[in-house]
Amino acid sequence: MGRTVLVVGGGGREHALTIGLVESPSVDSVHVSPGNAGTSEIATNHNVSASDIDSLVKLAQSLDVDLVIVGPEAPLVAGLSDELRKNGIPSFGPHAAGAMLEGSKDFAKQVMLDLGIPTAGVQHLTADSNLDEAVDRWGSPWVVKRDVLAGGKGVVVTEDRDEAIEFIQTSIESDSMVLLEEFLEGEEASMLVMMDESGYVALPCSQDHKRVGEGDEGLNTGGMGAYAPAPVVTEEVHRRAISEIVEPMHSFLSAQEIPYRGCLYVGLMISTDGSPSVVEYNVRFGDPETQVTVPLISSDLCDLLLAVAEGNLSKSMPSFSNAHALTVVLAAEGYPGPPVKGRIISGNSSSNWSNFSDGKSTIHHAGTGFLNDSIVSTGGRVLAATGISNESLEHARELAYMRLADVQLEGSFFRRDIGHKVLKK
Ligand code: AMP
Ligand code: GLY
Repeated sequence: MGRTVLVVGGGGREHALTIGLVESPSVDSVHVSPGNAGTSEIATNHNVSASDIDSLVKLAQSLDVDLVIVGPEAPLVAGLSDELRKNGIPSFGPHAAGAMLEGSKDFAKQVMLDLGIPTAGVQHLTADSNLDEAVDRWGSPWVVKRDVLAGGKGVVVTEDRDEAIEFIQTSIESDSMVLLEEFLEGEEASMLVMMDESGYVALPCSQDHKRVGEGDEGLNTGGMGAYAPAPVVTEEVHRRAISEIVEPMHSFLSAQEIPYRGCLYVGLMISTDGSPSVVEYNVRFGDPETQVTVPLISSDLCDLLLAVAEGNLSKSMPSFSNAHALTVVLAAEGYPGPPVKGRIISGNSSSNWSNFSDGKSTIHHAGTGFLNDSIVSTGGRVLAATGISNESLEHARELAYMRLADVQLEGSFFRRDIGHKVLKK
């Protein structure tokens, strides 16, 4: 008999994982909590919030699952994996102490400095700090980071000195401290590393588009689109990122009382001379990076995730296809501010793959739900159209935008330039 698995979360990342698990030959039954309209099409949704730890453990027990995959960071920081493991249920995702790498940017920075991992310099600012001196130390642009989980919205990068100082002051008022980081020049890439005490493996690297507007203008978002593999991560950059960043972190995490078992998301900045450094660590899969990464895994996804959850990764290494993937996020009016919700999504939003001679495309749902019999928007990032091509990244882009043209949502918008750093217009 095949496995029963439970995915925790309800975004595009979780929909991509759900599709991968439904397609895993070793899996019989996929449950998602709370899920979205897209996951309900191919799996069973449960009405338990991703923040309700006790009820999630009970749900996993009642379903008698073989594995829980925790999508978002908040339940990991709150100890969901710890509770599941205490109850004998394998969980993909680190325990609470491991999740502090994302839960506290201050903690993560300290670990990196202790291990000699390349990263931006930092100043800790409190009500007693001399702010003028602090902002003049490195000058513009200023990178100000709140030390709280803020869904990608606790960071301001600005060339406006007044804006930087104002964000520093309001953050100190609410959190009593804030971090001011040295600005790193270069190109960003995301490396998702499957990791447990037995070993690690990097999935194909991707590049996200964090700013809301075309040409990378405007406010930071959770991510407006991504593609993989990202050519900026050359073999040499990859080799250096593994030896200078992943290897020391893996040794550190494996030596902890409870070893890290899950995805370590390494947010890389690659300088013009090809030196990688760390912008941030996350303790989960990226969103929308997962939508372009999971489809490139050609082996059984559940075998991989379960092996990590049980500390057996070295015995179950994955294999990858040579395909290219690109995803474009459709965002609701107002995003990344408060989005307009409850609008009807029309057209073809099915997540069944549309197949072409040398590729395929789908819709990954994120902020979607049902109102009566209609699919409606429920969040800022509503869905993403994803193209996978065996031919080229250009072709993957064509498939993604073609798929997106089939879906309509009043007031929504998307970036037309996903992949612009490597693709011509
Ligand atoms: P974080 O939440 O730490 O990943 O920051 C969000 C985004 O802000 C990153 O993806 C970068 O685009 C930008 N950013 C953060 N830290 C830096 C830095 N030290 N230098 C340049 N850009 C940064
Ligand atoms: N796309 C950025 C993140 O998942 O944090």
